[in-house]
Amino acid sequence: MTKAIQITEYGGPEVLRLVDVEVGAPGPGEVRVRHRACGINFIDIYQRTGLYANPLPLIPGGEGAGVVEAVGAGVTHLGVGDRVAYAAPRPGSYCEARVLDATHVCRLPDDIDFDTGAAMMLKGLTVNYLLRRTLPVEGLAPGDAVLFHAAAGGVGLIACQWAKALGLELIGTAGSDEKCALAKEYGAAHVINYRREDFVARVREITGGKGVKVVYDSVGKDTFDGSLACLRPFGLMAVFGNSSGPPAPVAPATLAAKGSLYLTRPTLFTHASTRERTQAMADELFEVVRSGAVRIRIAQRYPLAQAAQAQRDLEARRTTGCSVLTV
Ligand SMILES: NC(=O)c1ccc[n+]([C@@H]2O[C@H](COP(=O)([O-])OP(=O)(O)OC[C@H]3O[C@@H](n4cnc5c(N)ncnc54)[C@H](OP(=O)(O)O)[C@@H]3O)[C@@H](O)[C@H]2O)c1
Repeated sequence: MTKAIQITEYGGPEVLRLVDVEVGAPGPGEVRVRHRACGINFIDIYQRTGLYANPLPLIPGGEGAGVVEAVGAGVTHLGVGDRVAYAAPRPGSYCEARVLDATHVCRLPDDIDFDTGAAMMLKGLTVNYLLRRTLPVEGLAPGDAVLFHAAAGGVGLIACQWAKALGLELIGTAGSDEKCALAKEYGAAHVINYRREDFVARVREITGGKGVKVVYDSVGKDTFDGSLACLRPFGLMAVFGNSSGPPAPVAPATLAAKGSLYLTRPTLFTHASTRERTQAMADELFEVVRSGAVRIRIAQRYPLAQAAQAQRDLEARRTTGCSVLTV
């Protein structure tokens, strides 16, 4: 048996309840991981509210780090006792121990601690595919400007640093002056407080009227139209989240009117779809973290039993950087 946070109905944070569940043995292709820490992600909130529907009862969460306790048949890249971290497509990480598909479980380098491993996998692999694989037709080169919303968040602070390492000029938005200062400290070239300033006008001003080549938009409903207006002709709109709610449907003609724009709605597990691809992306993430180019800021820690408070804080925009559940 293991302690876990489970929901039996969709709803507010109050539906997250601490329960005892059976863990079981790993089947073929699976491993059992004893967590040392679990990551908190905005996606966990979509799982709780039902925006991303899953069968109930459900243990939310898709990110964790710990030690391999048991290995199922056919798993060759992991052994009992290995230190590991993962971002998994199937929820189930808000617990002390779980069984999961080994495809997405990677060995954690010895010099990366468990809290960092738990905080960085889902968010860091996301930044990896966004900045390195979600590109405009002509690609991105050093000096190019991109707009990244919610730049002081978990995904955002990693993006600020990784973009700087790639030589990109990241314009970051955030919801307070303190958050803007943090994004700048972590590598954003320019910051805009989008609760106080017109971010479209500011982006035009910063780019000398040209606009940016890519907008990485995880806020969704509240920023979508403005984001389209920040793009230069042939620019790419990458909507990868719904923190303020899903954006309204868009007519293809809108993309024509704004300059032959491209629109994509990417998701991590189209990229991290196989063991090889996951490991290749994780290796790139480990490299930037170990080199110090990307620092993982864990600004909030909660015991597993306080998962509801962790989600309340994230939903209320009270957090910066990453949050983890300690187990
Ligand atoms: N598609 C994918 O593959 C993928 C993978 C990972 C994450 N994501 C998405 O990336 C986004 C960031 O994830 P995260 O876990 O790192 O969260 P986060 O950015 O740390 O938290 C969300 C942030 O969104 C901003 N926000 C703007 N309007 C909001 C609203 N109405 N309600 C709540 N927040 C609002 C807030 O920052 P300000 O106060 O600065 O505005 C808030 O701190 C999420 O939308 C998530 O779904 C997508």
